[in-house]
Amino acid sequence: MKFKGAGRKKSNVFPANRQGPSVSSASTYEPISSVWEGSDGDLLEAMFKFYATIPTEPILDSTYNAGRFWKGSRRKVVSMDIDPQHKPMIAGDNRKMTGVPSAKFGTVIYDPPHVGPQGRDKSRKRFDVDFGATVECGKEQGWNLSYLYPPFLKQAKRVLKPEGLLLAKITDMVNNHKSKWPHCDFMRMAEEAGFTVCDLIIKVRNGPMVSTKWKEAHHARKRHCFWIVCRNGDDCERESSGVLRE
Ligand SMILES: C[S@@+](CC[C@H](N)C(=O)[O-])C[C@H]1O[C@@H](n2cnc3c(N)ncnc32)[C@H](O)[C@@H]1O
Repeated sequence: MKFKGAGRKKSNVFPANRQGPSVSSASTYEPISSVWEGSDGDLLEAMFKFYATIPTEPILDSTYNAGRFWKGSRRKVVSMDIDPQHKPMIAGDNRKMTGVPSAKFGTVIYDPPHVGPQGRDKSRKRFDVDFGATVECGKEQGWNLSYLYPPFLKQAKRVLKPEGLLLAKITDMVNNHKSKWPHCDFMRMAEEAGFTVCDLIIKVRNGPMVSTKWKEAHHARKRHCFWIVCRNGDDCERESSGVLRE
């Protein structure tokens, strides 16, 4: 049996980092690929360019850690982290955002911990310091970290300007022998909080998480995470002029 298109020489898979196939000369936009193989920093720039309808700055990075997203960037970023050892501008809980003014930011960035505490883990990666894996994720929490999202989403909506963007990096996980799907929880909870979920971009990771604790595999090793694009407004459509509204 021959499939439609079989034998064609041209691949329709985008090369790494490319934003997608070229569009007709009548188009007024550069496409963005739903699969991204480059860095988070480059993807953030591509998302700003593609989705923003108001100026993206100031940006609130609400889970700053080492600020890896902004290495080499000249963006005006306000850093927030609950862990003061990372020396954020705002050392505080993004579920409260105490003292942060309302309608202040063009973009809020969210990259919450993806796993719970790893105990006395001896792997090279420091899950607790580098990934903030200190947040309870046991039986009481349904072996899941999604309970963090609703209070954060309420605050993100408050501090964002109307039409501002919330860009969230969410990774699914296996915990207590079961797959958890926090990216689904996040999208549902974001809609419930009054955001419009515009897109879901798959970001391919170079080094999947591994731990010396894991002796057997029963699930696919996750080589991807998701970037979820939400707008603080009622729809995702941009005005065709491409001019950002103040
Ligand atoms: C996965 S790391 C973020 C990595 C960061 N995007 C980077 O590029 O370096 C998660 C961070 O979220 C912080 N965090 C966890 N819960 C938080 C909360 N409720 N409020 C603010 N920060 C929190 C952790 O301390 C940790 O530094």
